[in-house]
Amino acid sequence: MKKFSKGIILAGGSGSRLYPLTKSCNKHLLPIYNKPMIYYPLSTLLQAGIHDILIISSDEYIKDFIRLFGDGSSLGIKISYKVQENPNGIAEAFLIGEDFIGESNVCLILGDNVFYGSELENYLNNASINMSGCSVFSYHVSNPSDYGVVEFNENKVISIEEKPKIPKSNYALTGMYFCDNRCVEYAKSIEPSERGELEIVDVLKKYLDNDSLEVFSMKKGFVWLDTGLPMNLLEASNFIKTIEDREGINIGCIEEISLNKGFIDKDQYDKLISSMPSSAYKKRVDFNDGNY
Ligand code: TTP
Repeated sequence: MKKFSKGIILAGGSGSRLYPLTKSCNKHLLPIYNKPMIYYPLSTLLQAGIHDILIISSDEYIKDFIRLFGDGSSLGIKISYKVQENPNGIAEAFLIGEDFIGESNVCLILGDNVFYGSELENYLNNASINMSGCSVFSYHVSNPSDYGVVEFNENKVISIEEKPKIPKSNYALTGMYFCDNRCVEYAKSIEPSERGELEIVDVLKKYLDNDSLEVFSMKKGFVWLDTGLPMNLLEASNFIKTIEDREGINIGCIEEISLNKGFIDKDQYDKLISSMPSSAYKKRVDFNDGNY
């Protein structure tokens, strides 16, 4: 049984498809309805019980993330920061994070991935507890050629391909990877692809070659959104607003999750909430009083 306490959120990149939104703002600070995008992947890590987190972003914007979360102590967690000089690829996160990872396992999540559904904690538990080396998640999509595509049988991966013209399945790989410590060594051993990036798929192929890659399917009805295009921002915002208003909940609420995971106690939670300015976010958090 392998436990995860460390996670990396990769929040650099160029966000070119969102131009001009990203001309003066990092993509992961843009709103998904009522909170910055990065709240959603951060809340997913917290739900996985991960409380030691490294945020990687570009030099230009790292200070904005520090302003947003500080050292994480108000949430009862530890957040540290590192710069990615250029968008050299997702797998570079393991190189930038080498000291942070140390001898541990690590969960890497992309800063633009939103997961939502009652099954989420089960998925996170399955991926982190029953891990043979690296656990990834597949999700049925209508446009697999836009993603890393995984072909599998039960939990066993048969093949993975980055943005194939003729996909072998309709299952995309989501942007969340639970890895054992070999991820660093594997990231060091790969070469940049034709597009000049260290590809996460190449690291996953190393696990596959060593019979250590497992895939967990996120079932129909569970929601995975990525937010690369302007219309994705709008769709994700509408989705979050619809569910939040209908159910009276606050999706991606890092304060509520920190309380429920025991990272902070009710006194710390109450102090945190009372320090917030009057806002719709605070109103909903107040209304739910720590239940999520
Ligand atoms: P992408 O969507 O592949 O790239 P991007 O966000 O830079 O956007 P665009 O394609 O429009 O230019 O990135 C997926 C996620 O990974 C996103 O959250 C940004 C992050 N990322 C990095 O932080 N560093 C990188 O080197 C790369 C390639 C991605």
